Amino acid sequence: MEDILILGIESSCDETAAAVVQNGRTVLSSVINTQIDIHKKYGGVVPEIASRRHIETINAVIDEALEKAGVTFKELTAIAVTYGPGLVGALLVGVSTAKALAYSLKKPLVNVHHIKGHICANYVAHPELEPPFTCLVASGGHSHIVYAKDYTSYEIMGMTRDDAAGEAFDKIARVLGLGYPGGPKIDALAAEGDPEAVSFPRVRMADNSLDFSFSGVKTAVINHIHKLEQRGEAYNKADIAASFQNAVTDALCEHTIEAAQRRGSRLIALAGGVAANSSLRAKMKKMAEDKGIEVIYPPLELCTDNAVMIGSAGYFEYMNGTRADMSLNAAASLDLADSV
Ligand code: KG4
Ligand code: ZN
Repeated sequence: MEDILILGIESSCDETAAAVVQNGRTVLSSVINTQIDIHKKYGGVVPEIASRRHIETINAVIDEALEKAGVTFKELTAIAVTYGPGLVGALLVGVSTAKALAYSLKKPLVNVHHIKGHICANYVAHPELEPPFTCLVASGGHSHIVYAKDYTSYEIMGMTRDDAAGEAFDKIARVLGLGYPGGPKIDALAAEGDPEAVSFPRVRMADNSLDFSFSGVKTAVINHIHKLEQRGEAYNKADIAASFQNAVTDALCEHTIEAAQRRGSRLIALAGGVAANSSLRAKMKKMAEDKGIEVIYPPLELCTDNAVMIGSAGYFEYMNGTRADMSLNAAASLDLADSV
């Protein structure tokens, strides 16, 4: 069978990325232009600045991806692009570029859901991986437990009712004065702290729900710090970071393992930026393996936003017949269950 070469394009937040992926699993190239240094001084992503930066860099990023892959535009099978969810202005840059390319090259255009992309990073990292499996997708905007039924359809078993896990990490990092993005900073600082120093709440919904809630733990940490500051007491930032991380990762692990058990699933995959968290990886492995469930995750560079995952998800969508036309628009919010 002829190789399927997909150009993946990703611009949903603060990374402009392009990649060429062969048959959904083999990375021929991956280029990521991150805007972290630009947004850092504002303490978070500024949507308007993100869109402008995507516009400035996207063509060069795509050219570099093709050059590194040694593939010409003509040799591509299809163009896959993230069309949501994300920042609408940022998404529009990728979507418009992909439409222009598909139109001028007369190649199929495949719209990809960003979260499905995160999940598919596991197919690249683990060439033997086949559905079904249980997946925890935790990023800056999402915290979902999904059951991957096949390569393109997912059943949502639980999700956050308020903040995403990554959002909570970013917020607490800001309160602790650690800077943006907060996840990696908390991860590093927590390694020096005591995870049992402070007991922050772990929320469990009634009615057997596997949903998450992270706004309570976030508020509890902020209140704890304010109280200590008001009393003029010195506090150990590393202990707070470790205790916060402990509470969040406990919830992520417990709910995900329970979801896997409900399905009789023997495999848990982690995905999204928060899957880069060292404590989450170690805890999930330990807790799940005690129950005979295997845990896998992508390497760090495939956990945070990239275009390889879009090229991979784009391949599976392409094989499944997903096609977009020139009316494709960006969708800031997009339900995982209702998408293509
Ligand atoms: O998947 P991603 O790159 O972008 C979104 O789709 O949101 O995820 C970014 C999120 C940020 O909130 C960041 O703080 C978090 O992932 N993150 C981490 C770690 N690395 C990135 N959170 C915890 N521990 C980490 N090591
Ligand atoms: Zn993402």
